[in-house]
Amino acid sequence: MFIVGLAAAIGGLILVRWTLSRHLGLAYALQTFGSCCLILATLMFASSRFGKLHARDRILARLKLRGDETVIDVGCGHGLLLIAAAKMLPRGHAVGIDLWSNWQQSDNSREATLTNAALEGVADRVSVHDGDMREMPFADRSFDAALAHFAIHNVVSREGRRQAIREIVRTLKQGGQVAISDLHGAPSTPTSCASRI
Ligand SMILES: C[S@@+](CC[C@H](N)C(=O)[O-])C[C@H]1O[C@@H](n2cnc3c(N)ncnc32)[C@H](O)[C@@H]1O
Repeated sequence: MFIVGLAAAIGGLILVRWTLSRHLGLAYALQTFGSCCLILATLMFASSRFGKLHARDRILARLKLRGDETVIDVGCGHGLLLIAAAKMLPRGHAVGIDLWSNWQQSDNSREATLTNAALEGVADRVSVHDGDMREMPFADRSFDAALAHFAIHNVVSREGRRQAIREIVRTLKQGGQVAISDLHGAPSTPTSCASRI
C-alpha cells in the first residue's frame, strides 16, 4: 500500500507539472488516491507496530491471572493475545481457536501461530484448534478466562455475534473473566458466570 500510494502520488504530481490541462482531473484523482493509500498504510503500520501491542498489554494487565489458569483466545489469528497470555501462565495453558480466514489476516494458519508460539518460547503452553467461535468444540466451563481481540465483529450477523458470546459464556467457569476488545459494542447477553472487563 505504501508503494502503490507513493507511485500514485508521484504519478499525479508528474501529470500536474508536465502534461496538458486536460489531464488535470486524472492527476488530482491519482494524488487523492495516493494520499489516501499513504495515510491508510501509515495508520495500519502504526497500529500493527505500536497500537496493537499497547492494546494487548492493557487488556492482559486487567485480567487477574494467578498463572495456573486455562485461557482461551477466540479468533486468535497469529496469536497476539494467545502468546502473551501464555507468557503469563507458567503453570497454565493458553488455547486458541480460529477458522483461519486469510482475508481477515494474511498468512493466517494454525502452523503460523504455532511457529510464533515456538519462537516466543511458549509452545508447550499453547494449543490451537480449528473451529468456529459460534460452535466451539469445548466442554462447558472449560476456561478460567476468555479473550477475543478484534475477532467477533468478523461474524457478519448480529445473531452470529450473540451466539459467539453465548459460547464464550458457556465455556467459561463460574467466576471466569472475559476481555473482549472489538469495533462494535457487544450485545447484551447473559453474563451470569462471567465478569466482563
Ligand atoms: C482481525 S483477526 C484478529 C486476530 C487476533 N485476535 C489479533 O488480535 O491479532 C480476526 C480473526 O478472527 C478469525 N475469525 C473470524 N471469524 C471467525 C469465526 N467465526 N470463528 C473463529 N475465528 C474467526 C479470523 O480467522 C482471524 O484470525
